[in-house]
Formats: sequence, C-alpha cells, structure tokens
Amino acid sequence: MFHSLSAMPADPILGLLTQYRADSHPNKVDLGVGVYKDPSGHTPILDCVKIAEKLRFETEDTKVYIGPTGSAPFNQLMTELAFGHSHPALLADRIRTVSTPGGTGALRVAADFIKRCNPNAVLWVSDPTWANHTGLFEAAGITVKTYPYYDYDSKTLKFDQMMAKLATIGKDDVVLLHACCHNPSGMDLTQAQWDEVIEVTAKQGFTPLIDMAYQGFGDGVDEDAYGVRQMAAKVENMILCSSCSKNFGLYRERIGACTLVGKDSNQANVANSVLLYVVRCIYSMPPAHGAAIVETILGTPALKQQWLDELKVMRDRINGNRAMLVEQLKMNAVERDFSFIARQKGMFSFLGVNPQQVERLKQEHSIYMVGSSRISIAGISEANVDYLAKSIAKVL
Ligand code: LMR
Repeated sequence: MFHSLSAMPADPILGLLTQYRADSHPNKVDLGVGVYKDPSGHTPILDCVKIAEKLRFETEDTKVYIGPTGSAPFNQLMTELAFGHSHPALLADRIRTVSTPGGTGALRVAADFIKRCNPNAVLWVSDPTWANHTGLFEAAGITVKTYPYYDYDSKTLKFDQMMAKLATIGKDDVVLLHACCHNPSGMDLTQAQWDEVIEVTAKQGFTPLIDMAYQGFGDGVDEDAYGVRQMAAKVENMILCSSCSKNFGLYRERIGACTLVGKDSNQANVANSVLLYVVRCIYSMPPAHGAAIVETILGTPALKQQWLDELKVMRDRINGNRAMLVEQLKMNAVERDFSFIARQKGMFSFLGVNPQQVERLKQEHSIYMVGSSRISIAGISEANVDYLAKSIAKVL
C-alpha cells in the first residue's frame, strides 16, 4: 500500500533544527524555530517550573486518566489569564476551556470543531501567517484563504486592505487573528486597530479565532490579551487557542488550551460537548504533566509573581536583541534601514533579504533562518551579533 506515497519535504521550520544540529561550524547561529534562548544560546527551564515540578513530584498520587477536558483548575486559571478575573463573558458563564496538547493541539481541535459547526466554513488567515496554520486546517478539510496583512516593502501593516477584505467576509466563515507577537512578521495590531477589527467582526458576524501563542512576550500578560478581552465582550461566538510552550518554556510538555465563548451558558455547554467529542476522536485526552506545572504556578501567588518576573526577563531580552541587531548592522556600515526590527514585537521579524541571500547565509555562514527570511530574535546574543551583522552585510 505504501508504494503510492511520495516523500514530503521537510517542515520549513522544524527541518532547520536537524540541519543546524548537524552543522559543525563553530560560529553557527540558529534563528530558525521560535524558542527562547538565554545569552549562552541555551533554552533554560524556568525556575518557577522547577519549583512547581518538585511540588508536583511530592504531591501527585495517581496517574489515572484525566478525561477529555483535562485539568479543571488549569482550565480555570488559563481562562482567567486570557480574559482577566472579571470579564463579562466569564461572569455570564459563557466560556468553556479544555486543556490541549500544545497550541497546535488547540488549533487542531478548533479546526475539527469548526468543521462540525459548518462543513463549508472558509478559514481566513493573515498573509503571511504561521507556516503550519494552512496545513493544519486543510488537514481537517477546511478551505483556507488569506486576507492582506504585512507589507514587505514598507515593513508595516496593510491595515486598510485588511479591513476592506474583512468587510466582505460573511457570518459562516472564520477569521484567524494573532493575539500578539504576530508570527512570522512581528507586526501587531495597535489597540485602536483591534477596536476597528472587532467592530467589523461584530458587524459581519463571522467567528474570530484568536491564536495566542506568545502571551507576555509582547508588552505584558494583560496588554497582550487586549484583543482577546475586547473581542469576547463584543461578539456572540469566539474561539481562542493558547499555548504554554513559550511563556512557560514548556515546549516539549505539549500543553495549551482551546477556549470557546458561547452566546450564553446553554450554548457554551452544547458547544463544549461537541468540542469534547472532537477531542475524544483525535487523542482522547490531553497529557497532564504540563497542566499540573502551569496550574501550580498560576494558583500559587508567590510562584505566579516569580513566573511574571521570569517572563519579563525573556521579554526584555528579546526586545534588547532587536535593538542590538539594528545597532550592530549600522556599525557594520550596512546602509539599508533595518530600524523596523526594533519596532516590531515578539519572537519574530522578517529580515527582508531574498531567498538566495537566505541560502547564502546558511551555506556560507551557517546562519539558519526560515526561507521567508523570518528570524527568531531570541537566537541573537551578545556573542553572535557581530558575526551575524557582518555576515548579513556580506550577503547584502
Ligand atoms: C515557530 O513558529 O517557530 C514555533 O511556533 C515552533 C513551530 O512549531 O513551528
């Protein structure tokens, strides 16, 4: 049976990991996969995570099935982290959350859930969007189309064009928005722009699906949730997919959440029952360890504060890296204006070099980035920024 298969190309993001690890160049630089790195290039385990894991080790007393919903305390705490404690939708009992295997798991159950709501729904994604969004939703049988978003020439948002397109999308479709730290462009909506997007969403009646994979990496935990909170206050239905991979550094534990906002409590219950059916049909129930760590942290005031402090260190370092790269490029007499990198947010920006230059950076300098020239800013450090800037100068 397998004879009919032809090989798939390596994943455009994850495939870089294998190539980078196999490269023996002493100055190699990994700007590929979006993972936080400390100044020595290591992806550390947060101290608050280590403490929570120790507590968990001492108190965990069973490994019995957790059930398709996952951990109830985790779900409640993640809902409050995303929406705040007193959001009107929370007080009206309109919100239901399930734990999922990472943010990707959340997106996949959202995809199957959408398919059950409306088998003909089109999912609209920003142009560009995270490389895996399209494949993931198409795998669930959903047609994916794009709305204008990033202007590669001016390095700004195509906001007017985006709004014009959203104003043509009808109530049977779904529009995917990035809550913050847009992956791959680093260009976020301002709060005023969010307000306009929310207005057109409510007017057109399409369902917003917000992907929040980087809460706390942009401006702060509450600031980054502005769009999520305002949107949920203004629309009948909404889907939120969150990830704990980056902000808790729990990449390999695979923990995230899928949240539904219903018109009222009854509708939320019905929608939740469908979501749980979808979960049962895909992976039955989520892993528990990551959820246990997160709920221990968020449910223990001192640990939560420690987490917020460690998150700020990561956020500040990424912002510092942005400024450092711009400065170093100037110091290497690069005439092209790269100041946009310092204005963008989160883990990623497009460097803005062409595919041949991306390839040369890899082949001649062992600098790894996605073919679109997306760079993971966290991979820059004081130790490699000079080499990086000099190499970019050479290929330019
Ligand atoms: C990324 O965009 O690099 C991360 O979200 C990791 C991934 O799974 O692609």
